[in-house]
Amino acid sequence: MDVNGAAAGPEAIDALMPGVDPDRIPRHIAVIMDGNGRWAQARGLPRVMGHKEGAKTVRRVLEASARIGVEVLTLYSFSTENWKRPEDEVGALMEMCIAYCASEARELVERGVRVRVIGSREGMPGDVLEALDRLVETTKGGERITLCLAINYGSRDEIARAARTLAERAVRGEIDPGSIDEDAVSGALSTAGLVDPDLLIRTGGEMRLSNYLLWELSYAELMVTETAWPELSEGEFYSMVGSFTKRSRRFGHAHERDVVGGGDGLS
Ligand code: IPE
Ligand code: IPE
Ligand code: MG
Repeated sequence: MDVNGAAAGPEAIDALMPGVDPDRIPRHIAVIMDGNGRWAQARGLPRVMGHKEGAKTVRRVLEASARIGVEVLTLYSFSTENWKRPEDEVGALMEMCIAYCASEARELVERGVRVRVIGSREGMPGDVLEALDRLVETTKGGERITLCLAINYGSRDEIARAARTLAERAVRGEIDPGSIDEDAVSGALSTAGLVDPDLLIRTGGEMRLSNYLLWELSYAELMVTETAWPELSEGEFYSMVGSFTKRSRRFGHAHERDVVGGGDGLS
């Protein structure tokens, strides 16, 4: 769908990212949106203001991704570990989530965005779950890009839950334990059906995964920028995607072999 005058054809990609091979655009980009608190604190503002400013970057990066034909953009929005933060910050983040669902729904539909949510529902406030469920339902017809929101997400929690699901099915006799392979595990995670991320972008400069998509990122290219999430521009985003397209992804092959678009069924 061409919304906002932006198709994701080779010409559109060339106009936005000159010289980049359209066949090398990542299908799935996962982002750790970090540095909101430090961005605010450096300006003498409360941390929550950093999260508010960060919401604008979500809009920017989502549109930039859709314009170049990225199929899935997964955003780490709240981790299972983020409950350890002060109550008022957690509360503000939950409120912001509800506000985002309400204020963005129409535009997301107009822009052909389909929202999906990953993470655990356990321990999440009912009104936040309701708002998210409504947004998923409202946007289910979106065909331009999938916005996958990782909320109350922790990769170890996800993997443990997948193990539990598979074990329960085996006990019920629905599956043979010997048949549990990589695909079975992938299929039991909340990312089931999504292509694995090709590129992980982390803003805020930390060189760690912070319990994010540990299974799915196995062969993703990693890119870390010092820029705080609220300050990430469309230009820097495209520059990181451009660098990604120049990387040699080998998926275990010898150096001469440069694999484009997923290696041997790994994605
Ligand atoms: C990331 O920004 C957003 C969330 C975790 C919700 P931070 O709030 O972690 O920002 P820093 O790392 O403290 O700067
Ligand atoms: C990761 O950022 C979680 C999100 C971006 C939602 P954190 O700020 O929580 O990660 P750590 O604590 O620096 O590892
Ligand atoms: Mg942080």
